[in-house]
Amino acid sequence: MSYWGPYTVARRLSERPVPLEVIAARALARASKGYSLKGYLEKAYKKYKLPDPVRPALVGMISDVARRWMLLSRALGLSYERPKASFDYWFKVVIAYQALFRKVKPGKLWWAFKRFPRDLYEELLKAGPEDYLAGLGGEERERVYRSVAKWAWEELKKFTDPKEFVDALDHPEGFWVRIRDPGAVPELKRLYEVEEGPFDDSLYLRGPKRLVLKSGLHPKKVVIMELASMSVAHLAKGVRALDLTAAPGGKSLHLSDRGFIVISNDLDPRRFAFDVEKVVSDARLPAFRKAFDTVVLDPDCSGIGRLGSPETRILLPFINKNKMSEYQRELIKGMLSLAKRGTRLIYTTCTITYEENEAHSELFEEVAEPVEVEVGAPRGRRGWRWFLPQLHKTIGFTLGVFEVG
Ligand SMILES: C[S@@+](CC[C@H](N)C(=O)[O-])C[C@H]1O[C@@H](n2cnc3c(N)ncnc32)[C@H](O)[C@@H]1O
Repeated sequence: MSYWGPYTVARRLSERPVPLEVIAARALARASKGYSLKGYLEKAYKKYKLPDPVRPALVGMISDVARRWMLLSRALGLSYERPKASFDYWFKVVIAYQALFRKVKPGKLWWAFKRFPRDLYEELLKAGPEDYLAGLGGEERERVYRSVAKWAWEELKKFTDPKEFVDALDHPEGFWVRIRDPGAVPELKRLYEVEEGPFDDSLYLRGPKRLVLKSGLHPKKVVIMELASMSVAHLAKGVRALDLTAAPGGKSLHLSDRGFIVISNDLDPRRFAFDVEKVVSDARLPAFRKAFDTVVLDPDCSGIGRLGSPETRILLPFINKNKMSEYQRELIKGMLSLAKRGTRLIYTTCTITYEENEAHSELFEEVAEPVEVEVGAPRGRRGWRWFLPQLHKTIGFTLGVFEVG
């Protein structure tokens, strides 16, 4: 990533000089209040008239900072288990990142020293990340370096190697796409090194996402979609499917592309991003008839499997898996009220905790039987499978499949 200073953005493109560091700090402050980063960035691109080549630099800066925020907080002498949701905090963290990781010359950041002590900047410039991990035990160093909330690291340790899990999410070689029109494949092969996936409509593309985004193929002929998420439509059966927590609608659209008649329900209509058959209602008290062959429940969860995303990385310290689990139970009860003979129930989360997954087994098994399926890898208990970033090159994801006898 080359350096985009305030002059680059200001002189050419906007009336007032707004450095990328300031935009990044605003974005991170918003995200740490729980607002959508994507939504903020879309507005920021317009407001600051950021041209195409600068956008990946901004996104890269935000992602890198979110992946190292604990270490950077430590370097600043701040407490590092929970980030602050203020611009002031994130501004310091972003500037510290420019010194410690990017070694940006102070002359390029002269404007920042009104808010950030210059002597501290010089000190960070001379130091390396290792200097701010001193005094931590081996495993704690790995965790703080990667900036993963303590509880999430402990959860990961129960099942897998946390380092491998997080590093696979942070450094993917490429990404998955779902093929909507096979006619698009030759063009994809021209743009990327392509690997076949386990599903007939899945391909792994090695390289940056921007090529497919610019190709004109996305989203009509090709959709960027995690392999784990694609498994849902491949596990559905029958003709009529209900997606209870559907927005933005990626899984619903896939179901519909695979020929299902799909109803996409969500509590929050603003979250829908795909063209699907929308219903707005509370899935805890569903007002649908027992008319579906497949019911999908993909509830909000702690999101450990999405640690690669900056929002998850900085919000995870505030998440309580047990509260999530309680809410999921209410949704599952709603889901089970729709089960009739032969209904397939597909429950998925982008996390790995026991409480948000297998702990719900008994609830499911009161009305349905676990189904053995072949996607991902087994998780021990019948009916449960999972995807691991380091094994399947996708997000961490767990799913349970049940069927009413
Ligand atoms: C993980 S997201 C679903 C992602 C979606 N399945 C997809 O693949 O695009 C969880 C969704 O659950 C919705 N949700 C939360 N509580 C709900 C409720 N009580 N009833 C219906 N939807 C709810 C949220 O608005 C959110 O859109």
